[in-house]
Amino acid sequence: MEISRREFLKLGLVAGAGIALPFGASACSSPGQDLTGRLLRSKARLPEPFEVPLSLPPVAKPVLIDTTTDYYEIVQKEAGQEILPGLKTEVWGYNGIFPGPTIEAKSGKGVIVRQANELPVPVSTHLHGGRTPPESDGYPTDLILPEGHSPHAQHAHPGEAGEPSNRGSKDYVYPLEQRAATLWYHDHRMDFTGPQVYKGLAGFHIIRDKEEDALPIPKGEKDVPLMICDRSFDEDGSFMYPSLDPTLRGEPGVENEYMSGVLGDVILVNGVPWPFMEVSNTRYRFRILNASNARRYELALDPEPQDGAPFVQVGSDGGLLGAPAHHRRIPIAPAERFDVVIDFSRYAVGTKVTLKNRLGDGRTSDIMRFDVVRKEKDESVIPERLSDTVDFEGLDASGARLTREFDFTRTEHQGRVAWGINDEVFDPARIVARPELGSTEIWEFTTDVHHPVHLHLVHFKVLSRQSFARGSKPLPTDAGWKDTVDLRPREVARVLVRFDGYRGSYVFHCHNLEHEDMMMMANFEVA
Ligand code: C2O
Ligand code: CU
Ligand code: CU
Repeated sequence: MEISRREFLKLGLVAGAGIALPFGASACSSPGQDLTGRLLRSKARLPEPFEVPLSLPPVAKPVLIDTTTDYYEIVQKEAGQEILPGLKTEVWGYNGIFPGPTIEAKSGKGVIVRQANELPVPVSTHLHGGRTPPESDGYPTDLILPEGHSPHAQHAHPGEAGEPSNRGSKDYVYPLEQRAATLWYHDHRMDFTGPQVYKGLAGFHIIRDKEEDALPIPKGEKDVPLMICDRSFDEDGSFMYPSLDPTLRGEPGVENEYMSGVLGDVILVNGVPWPFMEVSNTRYRFRILNASNARRYELALDPEPQDGAPFVQVGSDGGLLGAPAHHRRIPIAPAERFDVVIDFSRYAVGTKVTLKNRLGDGRTSDIMRFDVVRKEKDESVIPERLSDTVDFEGLDASGARLTREFDFTRTEHQGRVAWGINDEVFDPARIVARPELGSTEIWEFTTDVHHPVHLHLVHFKVLSRQSFARGSKPLPTDAGWKDTVDLRPREVARVLVRFDGYRGSYVFHCHNLEHEDMMMMANFEVA
């Protein structure tokens, strides 16, 4: 009898014997066990850390507001931006800026975004974390072609025929029938998501609701979105990325050494390299998003406060937790969001507190710095109970209709290395699961290296993680509703998914964007 790799993982034999992973060792061309990817070194002179103040992306202004809907118009275009002091970087940005403008929305009030494409390539825009009808979900082949673009010049995909494409612009309709949460929007073009997000196509989309507004947690200027990502820069300030075809019009993919993921050596927060932010000695809420292509971080504070946990988590990908969770460190994989409160009253005025990355080395071990510069009265409180709509009580593994298994590993496609799910690469025409609307299922994921696995449309709860070395409990940082789970090497993780919202077909995929572009993606259809 042949024992599958999956059985090996479940029995804990792989870690025990240290064998039998087809590509296990070689797929991990990483600086350490905690990262999957390869470092690309900048040629530009890099600034010292903590010299540039943090900036916040502007809040987008609706072009029209009526009783049911807020209307926006965003133009995707190229523009110069000073990211490294004294140098210009050509970014591809929503309204020409990186990060794009933040969309502020209310739960249950619709948002319609007209996305116009003035870039030289096709785009598709996805609202990550959104419960969105399929026509507006930013399917990888549901493209907005540039005005005057001939579809024949474009790389042909199997199954692409028949996909609707739009020319010049597309209206995305978001009902936003969902809880308050920190979402983000980003490019999702088939085969080219990695380089297009890297060039700047990402922004925040924040949903608020009455339940959250009523809480006494930090608000207004003390509710701060932080988009963390890594980039590398060429001498002249341009972004470096190892595309096979840097015009992004021909062959997709990256140079072979980078197939595990592209890691930059500059850490940006809201597009600013290693910024500093002045704060008062009060509580602040930070909506932390890892918008990196491949880099994982482990967030920590230095110095740590004398008493109490550095981070009080109040929300996850899918909004508020039922009760706050206290963490000393927070691992964060690409696309995950952590909504945390940091209490600067635990520090003396004058203290400089660094947000560290414990998985980095040298300059990538710093993210940003908070300078506690003044005293202020704090009106905020973190209540023991945050949310009653989190509703895990109504979601119980015994109600799951079935369990499906998905193995995320390196594979081959037409003689080339690729990334697959159950050894198959993405084919827009193939549907691998047909869950029923309103049902719950258990999805079980196994891995070779790190794969942050993301499902569109739905949210899930992490039930267990199992590996030889680490036991089977979920991590404390797995709490709450998730849409992305940070799978670690040789892990078996089980998640409980509720298929709610809309019928139609959606993708799930690895959110290491190099893996995604190298086809680690599949369709499920809510039937
Ligand atoms: Cu954030 Cu399908 O992606
Ligand atoms: Cu998504
Ligand atoms: Cu992956």
